Amino acid sequence: MLTALTPEDPRTQAKIWKLYRDYFDVSERKRRWNLREDIPWDQCNPGLDPAIADVVETFCMVELFLPDYLAKQLPQVRGNKGRSWMLASWGYEESKHSMALNDWMLGGKHRTERQLNEMDTSVFEREWGLKYDDPLASVVYTMVQEIATRVNYRNLRKIAGGQCPALDQVLEFVQIDEAAHGGFFRQLVSIYLEEDRAATLERIRLVINTFSMPADLLLANGRQRMADIVALGIFDDRIYLNEVVTPLLAQLGLTRADIRGPRAIRVA
Ligand SMILES: [Fe+2]
Ligand SMILES: [Fe+2]
Repeated sequence: MLTALTPEDPRTQAKIWKLYRDYFDVSERKRRWNLREDIPWDQCNPGLDPAIADVVETFCMVELFLPDYLAKQLPQVRGNKGRSWMLASWGYEESKHSMALNDWMLGGKHRTERQLNEMDTSVFEREWGLKYDDPLASVVYTMVQEIATRVNYRNLRKIAGGQCPALDQVLEFVQIDEAAHGGFFRQLVSIYLEEDRAATLERIRLVINTFSMPADLLLANGRQRMADIVALGIFDDRIYLNEVVTPLLAQLGLTRADIRGPRAIRVA
């Protein structure tokens, strides 16, 4: 049972709104990309290892739960303008990710239109649910999730980007977006650390020590899909610790001692 939160005062809400406006302004100026125009779609490699296309499909499926991500998270933050507007903006960016991955699978002839329609249907048959009935724990979870997602895309790009210019560009755009999302939510968590350190630390400890990638739980054959990701060296417990937890703690000004909990870290 998590300890109750101190209600957010208008000063905290104003800080969060400013964080969002800065994020939005920078996104508009530096980070917008065009799905049709900015990716070399004529340079899709149909000969790419099918194991890579399978991972792209897994990532696409996780992105496709977008209606649930928005529908479940928005009510938790409805009275908080900065967090609500961020979810709207974030949802737009995430919607591009699944479209770009979908179009790459089609363009490279790794999947047919029919297979992709079946993929959509199989995703929508399931439903993503909030992991925590607590808006602060949710934002801490989103922070870790975004940073881990960025690491997944970046590592996939490292192993596959050189073999397919179109996929390389897709993964570059997507991982930059994910890095921006992770940065926003980390700064948001920093604001909450200033406001209520004990409650925020409690949630950071809980989330970091029990984190798992959504593919594991969401998808019909999630265990196998996670095993494939691990086999390719894209993500595993060690990568989670070294490329997600360690830099994140440093950026939040925390140490391992701050998150020491009863459960060992396991993500895959
Ligand atoms: Fe995404
Ligand atoms: Fe994201």
